[in-house]
Amino acid sequence: MSNYHIKHLEEYYQVYRKSVRNPEGFWEEIAEEHFIWRKKWDKVLEWDFSKPEIKWFQGAKLNITENCIDRHLATRGDKTAILFEPNNPDEPSEHITYKDLYHRVNKFANVLKENGIQKGDRVCIYVPMIPELAIATLACARIGAIHSVVFAGFSATALSTRINDSDCKMVITADGSYRGKKTIDLKGIVDEALENCSSVKTVLVTKRINSDISMKEGRDKWLQPLLDNASNQCKAEIMDAEDPLFILYTSGSTGKPKGMVHTTAGYMVYTAYTFKNAFQYRENDVYWCTADIGWITGHSYIVYGPLANGATTVLFEGVPSYPDFGRFWQIIEKHKVNQFYTAPTAIRALAKQGTELVDNYDLSSLKVLGSVGEPINEEAWHWYNDNVGKKKSPIIDTWWQTETGGIMITPIPYVTPTKPTYATLPFIGIQPALIDENGEELKGNQVDGRLCIKFPWPSIARTIWGNHERYKDTYFSAFENMYFTGDGALRDEVGYYRITGRVDDVIIVSGHNLGTAPIEDAINEHPAVAESAIVGFPHDIKGSALYGYITLKDVGESRNHQNLSHEINQLIADRIGPIAKLDKIQFTLGLPKTRSGKIMRRILRKIASNEMENLGDVSTLLNPECVQNIIDNRL
Ligand code: PRX
Repeated sequence: MSNYHIKHLEEYYQVYRKSVRNPEGFWEEIAEEHFIWRKKWDKVLEWDFSKPEIKWFQGAKLNITENCIDRHLATRGDKTAILFEPNNPDEPSEHITYKDLYHRVNKFANVLKENGIQKGDRVCIYVPMIPELAIATLACARIGAIHSVVFAGFSATALSTRINDSDCKMVITADGSYRGKKTIDLKGIVDEALENCSSVKTVLVTKRINSDISMKEGRDKWLQPLLDNASNQCKAEIMDAEDPLFILYTSGSTGKPKGMVHTTAGYMVYTAYTFKNAFQYRENDVYWCTADIGWITGHSYIVYGPLANGATTVLFEGVPSYPDFGRFWQIIEKHKVNQFYTAPTAIRALAKQGTELVDNYDLSSLKVLGSVGEPINEEAWHWYNDNVGKKKSPIIDTWWQTETGGIMITPIPYVTPTKPTYATLPFIGIQPALIDENGEELKGNQVDGRLCIKFPWPSIARTIWGNHERYKDTYFSAFENMYFTGDGALRDEVGYYRITGRVDDVIIVSGHNLGTAPIEDAINEHPAVAESAIVGFPHDIKGSALYGYITLKDVGESRNHQNLSHEINQLIADRIGPIAKLDKIQFTLGLPKTRSGKIMRRILRKIASNEMENLGDVSTLLNPECVQNIIDNRL
């Protein structure tokens, strides 16, 4: 088990140095010892960031589900693989053992095949957080179909854009979903989306809320009868190391969402290895990540990473506030959760409720607390540490991205001393660099710059589906021979990293990446709108919230601004989803622009954040007079 489970700081440094000195040798050893392969690789790594081209474990043959399921059957067949906790606490939890999972994934895989899905086909999965979501995902992987999971909170327009971008042949969905007290008509959203998707031939529908929905003849099929008739044995498709495993969409600062493509072997090796170490997972631990499988956190650290380690992973359908704000703590007590992984936005919302609820439950099972998705502010860090971890469970502030596939910078619990708001040290094999405006690498400590990575790691996304040029432009063109993350970071006096936030036009709201351009496009569709600009401003629960400056075509128009704001937010919810709604909308006479016509978001950002004292020189603007007007009418 050498190097697979790091236990003290000295060992971390030792293994880290080894992983950087000889990455190929290091990852080969990990891959060799901890996974099952149908055929081993011919070459560990081939890479060229200028093309960019990255290949790990070339020539190897495998199936990731054999690593996540089959190989555990002999020793862990009766162990719980997925522990499903429903939205309603009165509904019983479900323990799906590795043996059950094996049979259910195989049945689902056979249904996919019987419905014409073959290796390489794209399947869109738009399912709430119920076991079928994980099972459908694994069933695709079993037969080599490429899954594209779309978060089941996205709108019909967002869904159809994603289906069309990768020409999905099938959509898997549910009749509806539960979300706290509410139900959501998922099938209705799918029907609306599919009006614009000619590639979809079949829709498989699982029953969750037993609602009365319409089924389109020849296209829509109830899943359960098909599963009942399917065999529970399905041979795993033998995949090449570099065959795509999935596509997952993430927002860019401009244009349509980017379908990040992750491939099989490297993704498996890296997510499994990071899971084991970043959470210090031990056999019989119960691990819970509260993310949705619709995001990368759920792919890597609810499904693939935990299952590759034979872990028990909790899958929670509900929300932190239902039936009350004690729900998370109640689940931790009920299932004796050992590792708990959530987002700063959830911590802030729960902290706002005080400590009474959290003190009501026995949280003594907890050993590790994780945070992901956005910077965790000092106050939230301490609240988490004091009231949830009782100062005994280390907090791992894990920095990573959809594009990186796995955790990149994090403390290793009980190994790396933590420091509030710091993601601390690079994970094994990760070579970060901070770059200044001139493209020079900043050496030494106590520096801050743009965060780049100098050397490939096994789970880096290989391309953007259908648009390799965009992949190159976005990640490899800013700085030569480096992967550019889009984030800024500082390195303190001992070499710890602190992520300072995005340096592009992506805004992170409640841990969700939102590009400003698609939101502005949605707003500009409103017939009364001439132009708009979106910026982020600090929000005590969401981290950042959206502030929209909107100029109307007819500036003197007497239309009710409240109604207009409502219509604009509705348009955003329809085009993107409710998560992208604006918290504040200010109607302006004009937007500050450079002489070349570019909107000066920097100024708008400062005004939205109430930092008017250092706006800088505005006299060189095309229309300096509009700045004062915006300040005077600030919300
Ligand atoms: O800005 C960083 C922020 O989230 C971005 C990636 O978002 P996404 O692809 O949706 O993946 C989120 C889950 C892995 C990053 O570029 N981010 C993520 N984790 C942290 C973070 N910012 C600060 N600290 C973190 N721990």
